[in-house]
Amino acid sequence: MVDPRLSVIKKRLKDINNIIAVASGKGGVGKSMVSSLLALHLASQDKKVGLLDLDVYGPSTHIILGIPFQKFPEEDRGIIPPVFHGIKFMSIVFYSEDKPGAFRGIDVSNIIRELLAITQWGSLDYLIIDLPPGIGDETLDVINLIQPTEFLIVSTPSKVAMGAVEKLIDLLLELHLPIIGVVENMKIGDSNYVKQIVTSKDVRYLGSIQFVPALEEAIGDSSKLLKTPFIKDLERIIKKSL
Ligand SMILES: Nc1ncnc2c1ncn2[C@@H]1O[C@H](COP(=O)(O)OP(=O)(O)OP(=O)(O)O)[C@@H](O)[C@H]1O
Ligand SMILES: [Mg+2]
Repeated sequence: MVDPRLSVIKKRLKDINNIIAVASGKGGVGKSMVSSLLALHLASQDKKVGLLDLDVYGPSTHIILGIPFQKFPEEDRGIIPPVFHGIKFMSIVFYSEDKPGAFRGIDVSNIIRELLAITQWGSLDYLIIDLPPGIGDETLDVINLIQPTEFLIVSTPSKVAMGAVEKLIDLLLELHLPIIGVVENMKIGDSNYVKQIVTSKDVRYLGSIQFVPALEEAIGDSSKLLKTPFIKDLERIIKKSL
């Protein structure tokens, strides 16, 4: 049977100009940081921005941006995403209330479909989606349900991270899905390893974001975050790619 939510999801997303999924084959490389600060930066430039946290097991964009999640968003024939720091924000955390959840794959898929079907984004310049690591249900659902999604891939300079990131790039290339490019986060040193691998696959290397020791202190405080060198590096990357 066809899932009736699929046509609703299409309608909900029809007035969004760019949908960007921030993904990586590897965990802990800075996907949530990139998604959150990308949304924050674009909103500070007066763009209409939405941020959707699809990390069912470990939502974290609300922590990075200092967003309270205790109050469930307003309902009116769907859910109206609350606005924080100029960003329309929707996250799995409104449902889980940050309690640990144990979900099987089918539940994850159902939660994502439900969230996409009920959220009223209205018109947006950008919808940024924060994905969990790997190529699991969340990534596959985004590929299947949200078209066209462009992928912004995050890696670190580590060969271990790139091993997993390469698998994601290969999958996306095989499926002919649009890749904006790869961001090398937490850059220390001047190795060309990531750039070489990425460009050998004919994917754009968008540049690096330096390791920022003071980033931890700015977490939860949007005005402090906007002043970190992370944002400067991100800005340079955006200018080239968005
Ligand atoms: N450029 C950076 N400089 C310093 N610390 C950073 C940088 N980028 C991210 N971090 C820190 O690294 C940790 C992991 O970042 P983040 O949670 O964004 O990664 P993730 O890829 O979303 O992880 P997960 O796979 O668990 O979702 C966080 O503590 C974050 O503050
Ligand atoms: Mg994350």
